[in-house]
Amino acid sequence: MTVVLCGDCLELLDRSILKQHSVETEFALTFLDPPFNQGKDYAFFDDELPPDEYWRWLTKVCAKVYELTLDGGAIYFMHREKNAEHVLRVLWETGWTLQNLIIWQKRTSAVPNQWRYSKAYQIIAFATKGRKPRVFHRLRIDAPLRPEYRYERENGMFVTDVWDDIRELTSGYYAGDEALRHPDGTRVCTQQAPIALLLRILLASTNLGDWVLDPFAGTGTTLVVAEQLGRNAVGIEIDPQMVDVIRWRLNERRPADSIALLRHYYRFTPNLDSIWSTDTPCYSTIALQIPKLFAW
Ligand SMILES: C[S@@+](CC[C@H](N)C(=O)[O-])C[C@H]1O[C@@H](n2cnc3c(N)ncnc32)[C@H](O)[C@@H]1O
Repeated sequence: MTVVLCGDCLELLDRSILKQHSVETEFALTFLDPPFNQGKDYAFFDDELPPDEYWRWLTKVCAKVYELTLDGGAIYFMHREKNAEHVLRVLWETGWTLQNLIIWQKRTSAVPNQWRYSKAYQIIAFATKGRKPRVFHRLRIDAPLRPEYRYERENGMFVTDVWDDIRELTSGYYAGDEALRHPDGTRVCTQQAPIALLLRILLASTNLGDWVLDPFAGTGTTLVVAEQLGRNAVGIEIDPQMVDVIRWRLNERRPADSIALLRHYYRFTPNLDSIWSTDTPCYSTIALQIPKLFAW
């Protein structure tokens, strides 16, 4: 089941409201990708809050999500690296236990800075409700061998906390077919997360049939991946135009949104068949080439 709700996540993250929409009120996993308070011009929310107010607001969101999470359930909270201390503090204050601070290394050019090193990564804090995750599947990937390695790996390698094999869809270079565009070619949302990112997160931290929450659903990447993996999902989005985009995207099942071609990359994961359902809606992969996400 995939549910899209239009409104403010702080208001909608309420047991009785979720129940009215037949949504489970205990989530296995939440992907939190909020607006970054960068002063962007959004119609439905203020992206230029005083920093204290912004982090108080996200503290409330994390507290609500915690309340609605199963014991051992997970949150993946994505933000800019310069805000790492705030992200960790917010999670700590709302009861979450940090498991990993994942470095999602960008593939495009780094953001230059005069006073410190150029910024080349984004952080994703992976935390759980309680000390131990209720689900954690150790994924193995077929990452290409770096030139300095001598021997091929027969069984791939475990995914570590540095994710340097997932290409972001940021602007500034050709983001490929996966990026949603208006008819004039401009991007629908430059913060669109890649399906490869959500695929990894959902595969590692959920089981078939689990409920996944995305309180800042944007273009609906989390829902698109959850649907194909046989997870239930609810996405909340404040901008009605983005809600239309999500509904369109879920209905369209674009070849570029298919996760099928990424399965090969995870083939060394021992329990892959039990965590990656093939009995789910099929996104056509006709005319798709193997994505070049994973080359060094
Ligand atoms: C960084 S984007 C998320 C991008 C998303 N991960 C994707 O793959 O497209 C943040 C989204 O949160 C939405 N948003 C902002 N404030 C919100 C709120 N209070 N409740 C729900 N959604 C909100 C914005 O409209 C925006 O689409």
